[in-house]
Amino acid sequence: MSIDVKNVSFCYNRGTPLQKLALDNISFSINKGEFVLIGGEVGSGKSTLLRHFNGLLKPHSGSVTVSGINTRDSKVRSKVGLLMQYPQKQLFGKTVYEDVSFGPSNFGSKGEALGKQVNDALNLVGLSEDISVLSPFSLSGGQMRLVALAGVFSMEPEYLVLDEPTSGLDPENRSSLLSILGKLHSSGISIVVVSHQICELLPFAEKVLILKKGRIDFIGTPKEYLRSAPSSLPEITSLMKELQSAGFNVRDDIYSVDHAFLEINNALKEIGDKQHG
Ligand SMILES: Nc1ncnc2c1ncn2[C@@H]1O[C@H](COP(=O)(O)OP(=O)(O)OP(=O)(O)O)[C@@H](O)[C@H]1O
Ligand SMILES: [Mg+2]
Repeated sequence: MSIDVKNVSFCYNRGTPLQKLALDNISFSINKGEFVLIGGEVGSGKSTLLRHFNGLLKPHSGSVTVSGINTRDSKVRSKVGLLMQYPQKQLFGKTVYEDVSFGPSNFGSKGEALGKQVNDALNLVGLSEDISVLSPFSLSGGQMRLVALAGVFSMEPEYLVLDEPTSGLDPENRSSLLSILGKLHSSGISIVVVSHQICELLPFAEKVLILKKGRIDFIGTPKEYLRSAPSSLPEITSLMKELQSAGFNVRDDIYSVDHAFLEINNALKEIGDKQHG
């Protein structure tokens, strides 16, 4: 089971003088349970690609299938939860409850079970249940993003597809969102995240895909990405490189603080053993 993108091209304003080729013959797969990080410069086609995963946009040539279902079939909508880049575009309800309950109620949930799904989703993103009676448009930008996220989580999708989920959040909400994503991923959900902050998500990712002008510029593991992009290294990787060139026996393909801690600890132990031995 996977999302399979095969030779996908997509044009905005097709057949008009404003025609713009946003995706240019893209092919790749997202395996079930995989954590995929998508990056690339402004206007490279990231959001356009994401909107193909749940059929919001249909390719002009090529195909996208989710667990074997073509995205031209509306059944894919229950499998893929999409958080759009701008939460204002996603929210529509008179109340937060109406918004967060929309997905599950469309798929048949009602009554107490529905209320529980809404509350669980709000709690998951760190929002109080009291907020459910408010208009989503009376909230701050960060709170709106969290409500939109709760709406996506409440559908309990097989694939979570998130466009810049941490943008506009304070450091506390950012790190709690990252830990939620880590937990959901460990529970077997596939996660696809678009971010301009590749470094903060690299420790979670299994696959990195970088778009450039509507084409795939890079696809590979985080380690391969670090080797291919030496100019945009995470701070922790740069630190390991500096320690290595200062003579410490540490690896330089590390991008998470936990791994760096272990690596430095081992190097210090080795030095201690040599001094005592
Ligand atoms: N609704 C639209 N109508 C016409 N052109 C569009 C539309 N949306 C996007 N485009 C164009 O398609 C290209 C890809 O846009 P897209 O929004 O997918 O980029 P992105 O990588 O998500 O950028 P960003 O990092 O700014 O979010 C851009 O050149 C953009 O101008
Ligand atoms: Mg975008």
